[in-house]
Amino acid sequence: MNGRYAEAHRRSLEDPEGFWAEAAAAIDWERRWDTVLDAGNPPFYLWFRGGWLNTCWNALDRHVAGGRGGQAALIYDSPVAGEVTTFSYAELRDRVALLAGALKSLGVAKGDRVLIYMPMVPEAVMAMLACARLGAIHSVVFGGFAAPELATRIDDARPKLILSASCGIEVQRVIPYKPLLDRAIELASAKPAACVILQRPMAPASLVAGRDHDWQALVAAARPADCVPVEATDPLYILYTSGTTGIPKGIVRHNGGHAVALCWSMANIYGMKPGEVFWTASDVGWVVGHSYIVYAPLLYGCTSVLYEGKPVGTPDAGAFWRVIAQHGVSVMFTAPTAFRAIKREDPDGTLIRRHDLSKFRALFLAGERADPPTVEWAERQLGVPVIDHWWQTETGWPITANCLGLETMPVKHGSSTKPVPGWDLRVLGTDGHELKRGEIGALCLKLPLPPGALPTLWHADDRFVSSYLAEYPGYYQTADAGYVDEDGYVFVMTRTDDIINVAGHRLSTGGIEEVLAAHPDVAECAVIGVADSLKGQVPVGFLVLKAGAAQLPAQVAEEAVRLVRERIGPVASFRTAIVVPRLPKTRSGKILRGTMRRIADGEEYKMPATIDDPAILGEIADTLKGAGYAKPPA
Ligand code: COA
Ligand code: AMP
Repeated sequence: MNGRYAEAHRRSLEDPEGFWAEAAAAIDWERRWDTVLDAGNPPFYLWFRGGWLNTCWNALDRHVAGGRGGQAALIYDSPVAGEVTTFSYAELRDRVALLAGALKSLGVAKGDRVLIYMPMVPEAVMAMLACARLGAIHSVVFGGFAAPELATRIDDARPKLILSASCGIEVQRVIPYKPLLDRAIELASAKPAACVILQRPMAPASLVAGRDHDWQALVAAARPADCVPVEATDPLYILYTSGTTGIPKGIVRHNGGHAVALCWSMANIYGMKPGEVFWTASDVGWVVGHSYIVYAPLLYGCTSVLYEGKPVGTPDAGAFWRVIAQHGVSVMFTAPTAFRAIKREDPDGTLIRRHDLSKFRALFLAGERADPPTVEWAERQLGVPVIDHWWQTETGWPITANCLGLETMPVKHGSSTKPVPGWDLRVLGTDGHELKRGEIGALCLKLPLPPGALPTLWHADDRFVSSYLAEYPGYYQTADAGYVDEDGYVFVMTRTDDIINVAGHRLSTGGIEEVLAAHPDVAECAVIGVADSLKGQVPVGFLVLKAGAAQLPAQVAEEAVRLVRERIGPVASFRTAIVVPRLPKTRSGKILRGTMRRIADGEEYKMPATIDDPAILGEIADTLKGAGYAKPPA
């Protein structure tokens, strides 16, 4: 095995076309591509130009045709609904074909957008695959977003149809989804022609006559639909992610490169074999869920577990071990925050030892930096490799990892190991020059990006270039900063923009500030991400009130918290707004958010030379101490 990683990485950069053409042999093509990589219109690169395929065929039908029809494709395990249901490849194919037929009966065709706003039920997976089957473009919106966020996405994607469910279940609380959907459609200017609603028994919803259809009734009347071939460069989905403003970015994923890269990753990064069980504990609303709950495991012929529950509280901190043992999971993927939650409730791992984890081979973590204490704890308790790997919604699959399928490299805590084949990672300084090993700079990826990475933003080529490509010409800027050590290991340290990471979820502090600034009594505001022992970071807002504000400071702070929940959603975990007399700024008026964060986290900070009035920092520190922050680290 030794040396296989280095050789694969070298070859992927020296001969990308040969490398990816070979990987593409694992996919069924309706028509072979004309060009592996079309670099004729930089910085827009197209993989497998001229090729035709269908992603749903590759994820389901071909496995049935190839003899896997009886193998489990999807195991739905829901401690909150009290249900475990297994769908074989043949069953899942049939259910998806019928749902696709139902969507077709409502006029959905190739290239139409379909928005999916659903909890973690098998129908959500079926909905994504049914869209892929018809060549329609799905856009899944995470259930923890509020109506205005949903409306923004509806207006950008302009879906013909919306698929939703009557409710989600958060531990023991039933969350009605339908009122949020109705409100979002009211707010949006692009009205969908129809909605299809899955009625869950815990909270059935009332349907809007003439617009809403009952899921079960529609499917019962449908005829199965066949796979519609699409071009490799036709979009499979749009997934919105936080940008630096309140307007999210519509990440586009093409069918061809996505199928090739994800299939390759299952064998080479995760070291999986077809037929084995893979479990990603995330949500289909995030990229991790798109890639590693739905598409990659199915494209590769594995069994995927769809878990509707939490790491703790459903019913206890042993839930993950119960699922691994019950379904014979080989490899699991989740966010470090889930492990911090488990470690907090079961520090000695007592619940782990109650389960037979003999099939379990490796744990992969991503979504936020894997803090070494959590990784060490997981290694000690589980006795398997714990692999931190780094990626983004934009990249669609890991940029750096310990590629277990190629070669197991020694783990260095705090590092997400080395660039995965296909990714040409460079650390650049502010002037665009490459930095030496050990020096911290902007983590950038030399163009072209490999298959599966975003080719552009939905209907926003200019924003794609200005957001990612303009600052370092010839490179994609990840907006993460870090360094590469003497052994070539990559350390991802921090974001360079205003994105914060809350329980593995990506949030824009700028987006939260836009909500706070809209309050009539708020003159100005700043939001920072403060360290949190469970969620990694949580947002904290600072408000300066207008002279003669109508309400008392405590009332405004309370309303600010409510507003963020209503406008962005509970996913923002925004619980603390603090009213301050003024904000620390530079002489040119820039708010010193970085310094405020350091004070809040109890870190050392230098008095910025450009500060307007140094006394304000003392005031901020006192206010933060009063609110329970700014403690020196334990
Ligand atoms: N629909 C509706 N509401 C949702 C939701 C959904 N799909 N998902 C989360 N929420 C709500 C939660 O109920 C919570 O609401 P509350 O403020 O009323 O309590 C809020 O959004 C924040 O959710 P979350 O950040 O998940 O916090 P939590 O306290 O419920 O759970 C963890 C904390 C660590 C257990 C949880 O974040 C977790 O399991 N993480 C696993 C990793 C993961 O999914 N990562 C994603 C990327 S890989
Ligand atoms: P998202 O697009 O929501 O997947 O968030 C991507 C961002 O999460 C990255 O740009 C990083 O800031 C952070 N991230 C994801 N995985 C890691 C990791 N393994 N180490 C450090 N940061 C990570």
